[in-house]
Amino acid sequence: MTPAEASAKSLEICRKAPVIPVLVIDDLAHARPLAEALVKGGLPVLEVTLRTPVALEAIREMAQVEGGIVGAGTLLTPADVKAAKEAGALFGVSPGATDILLDACEAADLPLLPGAATASEAMALLERGYTVQKFFPAEANGGAKALKAIGAPIPQVTFCPTGGVSLKNAPDYLGLANTACVGGSWVAPKDMMIAGDWDGIVALAQEAAQLPR
Ligand code: 3PG
Repeated sequence: MTPAEASAKSLEICRKAPVIPVLVIDDLAHARPLAEALVKGGLPVLEVTLRTPVALEAIREMAQVEGGIVGAGTLLTPADVKAAKEAGALFGVSPGATDILLDACEAADLPLLPGAATASEAMALLERGYTVQKFFPAEANGGAKALKAIGAPIPQVTFCPTGGVSLKNAPDYLGLANTACVGGSWVAPKDMMIAGDWDGIVALAQEAAQLPR
């Protein structure tokens, strides 16, 4: 898969809903009801971070939920790419980008949403052909104001800002010309997962799905 093909696929995925839930799953039993709740609430695209021991198994479970588009986040190495692909991830997300990681995703035909935090990083990815990128960590990097400023000289790149994004500040990003959607963990709070409050998560997803863009 070429970078241009990966970006086309990423854009298609980013346009499905205003928010991509960023999920940290500690208990495999949460995987399926969580995915069902988020999809039911109107957020079909799900990013499962490879940060917990059950993450790959969770991707396998969630990939079976009808209407869901499940990807793997926190891809750092070619081994992560291979494992994510084998688990059924349909896309990948990384906090930054290295040639080794980009090579691995392109070779594995896994569309990657690669992370960039600065104009130089965005330019390096653009040089390689990635026109759709994750702006990370969004809030710590100056938030919507910074992303808007990057968009002035580099309008060719469309972003999914992630990191510190909430229901409150999401509209600031979604109103930018260079933002396709945002990523955030606020729609899947740990305490609600532990309590099995899936209806509560449906409600959070509905609220997020209605964000204007
Ligand atoms: C992450 O890396 O965990 C994501 O960027 C999500 O960040 P958030 O928890 O601030 O939404």
